[in-house]
Amino acid sequence: MSDQQHVYPVSDAIAQRAWADRETYQAMYQHSLDDPESFWKEQAKRLEWITPPTRIKNTSFSRDNVDIRWFEDGELNVAANCLDRHLETRGDQTAIIWEGDDPNEAKHVTYRELYERTNQLANALKELGIGKGDTVTLYMPMIPEAAIAMLACARIGAVHSVVFGGFSPDAVAQRVIGADSRLVITADESVRGGKHVPLKDNVDAALTRKGTEVCQHVMVVKRTGGDIDWQQGRDLWFHEAVDKQSTECPAEAMNAEDPLFILYTSGSTGAPKGLKHTTGGYLTYAAMTHQYVFDYQEGDIYWCTADVGWVTGHSYIVYGPLANGATTLMFEGVPSYPTHGRLGEVVDKHKVNILYTAPTAVRALMAHGDKVMETSSRESLRLLGSVGEPINPEAWEWFHRVIGNGRCPLVDTWWQTETGGIMIAPLPGATDLKPGSATKPFFGIKPALVDNEGQELEGATEGNLVILDSWPGQARSIWGDHERFVQTYFSTYDGMYFTGDGCRRDEDGYYWITGRVDDVLNVSGHRMGTAEIESSLVAHTAVAEAAVVGFPHDIKGQGIYIYVTLNDGIEPSDELKKELSLWVRKDIGPIASPDVIQWAPGLPKTRSGKIMRRILRKIAANECDGLGDTSTLADPSVVDELIEHRANK
Ligand code: WTA
Repeated sequence: MSDQQHVYPVSDAIAQRAWADRETYQAMYQHSLDDPESFWKEQAKRLEWITPPTRIKNTSFSRDNVDIRWFEDGELNVAANCLDRHLETRGDQTAIIWEGDDPNEAKHVTYRELYERTNQLANALKELGIGKGDTVTLYMPMIPEAAIAMLACARIGAVHSVVFGGFSPDAVAQRVIGADSRLVITADESVRGGKHVPLKDNVDAALTRKGTEVCQHVMVVKRTGGDIDWQQGRDLWFHEAVDKQSTECPAEAMNAEDPLFILYTSGSTGAPKGLKHTTGGYLTYAAMTHQYVFDYQEGDIYWCTADVGWVTGHSYIVYGPLANGATTLMFEGVPSYPTHGRLGEVVDKHKVNILYTAPTAVRALMAHGDKVMETSSRESLRLLGSVGEPINPEAWEWFHRVIGNGRCPLVDTWWQTETGGIMIAPLPGATDLKPGSATKPFFGIKPALVDNEGQELEGATEGNLVILDSWPGQARSIWGDHERFVQTYFSTYDGMYFTGDGCRRDEDGYYWITGRVDDVLNVSGHRMGTAEIESSLVAHTAVAEAAVVGFPHDIKGQGIYIYVTLNDGIEPSDELKKELSLWVRKDIGPIASPDVIQWAPGLPKTRSGKIMRRILRKIAANECDGLGDTSTLADPSVVDELIEHRANK
């Protein structure tokens, strides 16, 4: 299929009103590469600095000395940038539109209200002895208090670590320990799709785990009024701690390189790692990308459907939009509840202009046919965005034609937790669209494709995606383990940031992300390490060995396929499959639920004992004809056995 068949050119009308048309993009992009210092010095002015930076870029990707600093002599406060500076001009403007899980529940929070509530919480945190450099774990529903908690931490210089509300108690415990958090902020329960999730119970369970003693307090937002246990002295109600506080709280002056947050994400090996993001560069980059990629214009209503537990929620629900004085919609529920028309109905109800969502949500709706959009007109929409995983051209076209009524540009945005903000994406007024392609690099981004030896490949080709130079939004380190940061991202190809993604570049210089080239799965846009799931499985007494791979899944993008070798004397059964499935759900969280479990009397291994995942992936994908060379296996017969008993028929 030729890429040329499906090009959606930029319309003149959009180019005229956009922040960047073709010429502007070209000129600014060239400037950003030729002279990053002056480019980013200028861009930093979009923020309000207590001390404006004079030293702009001081970065090294060399594997002997990975050191990344932006604006390093500048001082600022992120909360003041997201709140205080808007008070005069837009104090009464809605900052957050909150849409509840129940379609009858919604509220508007103005910039002034957000400012006051943030200050009150900041004062309450100080009363608990939390201050600059302390870490706070947030395990919250999608309610305004989640944004307030993030901003309150930023205001006093505390570092937040948001843990996705779908994770298990063990995952919470691991992250409380990893970040050394003295406080957890949570809610009694969260509500999604009509179901209640016992957040506070999960925190209680997490804090019984060894090593979590550092956590002295649990602050609880009353969301549902559901039944919870209470530990006197440790637990406190959010409203009781906060209501009594002053609505003024001075914003701490932070160095541009002071940490703003930690966010855990999965890698190909070991436990999830806490990426460290800092203050000045991160906010500059989040704000700038939000403005240009979504072409955010004054007065627009903007909706990103992500959860604040993921980086997309950090950069494009909270920090980017609020830094730009935008109105950002925060949705507590799921697009399929109470009916599949909900997404469009929320767009109509709040007159949403910009809708940023994930391919998996689009595919789930698409599976129900065009009729799911009949309950809404979506006339307010002007722009669509996609993130989290490759979007297949069919889903792209459906998103564009049905949800967007065929008249809204669709920006497919490629980026990662590590990158802090969008890296490769079209600009609506500048880039012709090709369904399935994230198109062109953002300002300051130098992508390249390399072969497995790190040789740069030129022209139209396919390879491993690397980034050749630093940009302000990138993570600076892994919390408490800089060596692991260097190992993970800078040691594969010296002097380059390795993304872990494969990518194709076409003859027009457009980038097409092909998916992970490492052992990371992307299930419904959620990142998961196969190693994490495997280590959960082998902790079960019945399991001798386990290998986890991804396989193509119509809705989720990738599904989780598990091969399990049982211990001697253990009989395989459907009950045991169910038990193992529940085990993983309980250990990691529902997002890690296995799709397929296959009993594997043996796993294909090399003579040195390494599992050949390439073969397991092929079998899971039912591509058994193209297994390639199996002669290097210690016991090639296990492959025939696995093919014969494929579970995913
Ligand atoms: C994948 C989410 C193709 C990719 C912001 C990346 C994508 C990983 C896209 C990061 C996209 C994200 N097209 N693939 N538009 N966006 N990915 O850290 O494999 O949760 O490495 O960040 O998701 O996932 P993460």
